[in-house]
Amino acid sequence: MEFEKNILSIGAGYVGGPTMSVIARQCPEYRVELVDIDHEKIARWNSDDLPIYEPGLAEIVQSIRGRNLFFSTDIGAAIDRADIIFVSVNTPTKTYGYGAGMASDLQYWEQTAHTIVQHSRGDKIIVEKSTLPVRTAEAMERILSANDKGLRFEVVSNPEFLAEGSAINDLMKADRVLIGHHQSKTGRKAAREIVDIYRHWLPARRIITTNVWSSELSKLIANAFLAQRISSINATAQICERSDADVQEVARAIGTDRRIGPRFLNASVGFGGSCFKKDILNLVYIARSFGLEEVADYWNMVVRLNEAQKARFVRKMVSAMFNTVAGKKIALLGFAFKAHTGDTRESPAIDIARQLLEERAVLAISDPRALDNARRDLEGIPGKVEFQPDPYRAADGASALAILTEWPEYRDLDYSRIYRRMNKPAFVFDGRNILNHPVLFKLGFNVYPLGKKGLSHFR
Ligand code: UDX
Ligand code: ADP
Repeated sequence: MEFEKNILSIGAGYVGGPTMSVIARQCPEYRVELVDIDHEKIARWNSDDLPIYEPGLAEIVQSIRGRNLFFSTDIGAAIDRADIIFVSVNTPTKTYGYGAGMASDLQYWEQTAHTIVQHSRGDKIIVEKSTLPVRTAEAMERILSANDKGLRFEVVSNPEFLAEGSAINDLMKADRVLIGHHQSKTGRKAAREIVDIYRHWLPARRIITTNVWSSELSKLIANAFLAQRISSINATAQICERSDADVQEVARAIGTDRRIGPRFLNASVGFGGSCFKKDILNLVYIARSFGLEEVADYWNMVVRLNEAQKARFVRKMVSAMFNTVAGKKIALLGFAFKAHTGDTRESPAIDIARQLLEERAVLAISDPRALDNARRDLEGIPGKVEFQPDPYRAADGASALAILTEWPEYRDLDYSRIYRRMNKPAFVFDGRNILNHPVLFKLGFNVYPLGKKGLSHFR
């Protein structure tokens, strides 16, 4: 079959995988391909055991793989074939040199730009999909246009707003798609081609076109605003725990104000995920590089508060358990950075586990999907850790349970059975406020929710 257009994603991870699968399903007349340097990942995309878990993703991949959706490791041939290339490679925070711990490590991006030039024999549209610092599109353009083959590459920014665990739904029902382009004739033409893709399933009013800078910055700012809400509610939770206020009541009360809105107001052990911290630190880096010290400090505080929230949770556990957890078994229920994903990047559970191990606790970690990642995350950290898929077995003989991820199944466990088999006194630390605290208290647990008074049987 002749396809109208060839669309390629370089990078087949959490961003590239779901995005391209949805594009392929919604645009059957386009040939959609994903390539990756990670051969094992591509082999898994071509198998029944996909490398990432997203609700609804496996069904889409199975229904169109080999028809207009392809996964390959032949990056050169795929680039040559492509009319439009989405660059969805990862951009971790730099761990070395200038800007270490803050700026994005752009080596993968730059490498990709060189690879594109090397294998191209015709003009192409390059879509910046990975979350990148402002002005990356410009830098990429310079590398791409420095080719001596006389080729033209038009770079368009199309930031990703999907959240893990709901990626397919977010893509299908996107609040908005943002397309940043140059204000030139060729820039506008390239943007129209990207608009055409999304118009297959989204109304025109949901597709916003801006200049490249606005598009790149909007992505960072959207994540900074979202993370800031969590740090704000977590800061509120700390005040609530010292007073008689209840953070869930406060969240409900302020959420009814339409200017504030009810979503993203759940106090927690802290936010995680591959985007929030990285994007905010990028913003801080950009602000500092412009000499905007207050602006940099302001956003940096969102991250600092999040770090403090994790440490405070551990301190609360240790202090409730008579100031020592050494040798005590603690069951951590949940390790993923949020429910419905196996992803643990920047998960608060990593820091909490590490800090509890420093206190010499004995950990039993349970999670429905994230145990393989958890094992990797804690590799090399000294201490006793057991990885246990069954939450009941994880809790067996434990002195405390700590809920670190809001998996719905943790709401419905048989807590009286769990209580019977735990060490007494038994503690629950609900880092996500998902359990029925008065019921647990009645069963005999000492219960420590987030942002409200604990329920303790001690006088
Ligand atoms: C985020 C953005 O939502 C998305 O638009 C962007 O493209 C990528 O980054 P994601 O990291 O997948 O998506 O997850 P998100 O649902 O935003 O949650 C991030 C973290 O905040 C999680 O650890 C979550 O548990 C935490 N969170 C979220 C809270 O602690 N409280 C809340 O009320 C909401
Ligand atoms: P994200 O959440 O941004 O999608 P992932 O790590 O899940 O991050 O996915 C990024 C993917 O990009 C990885 O599978 C990685 O192997 C791939 N990748 C990184 N650099 C390159 C490159 N130069 N060429 C092709 N793929 C790359």
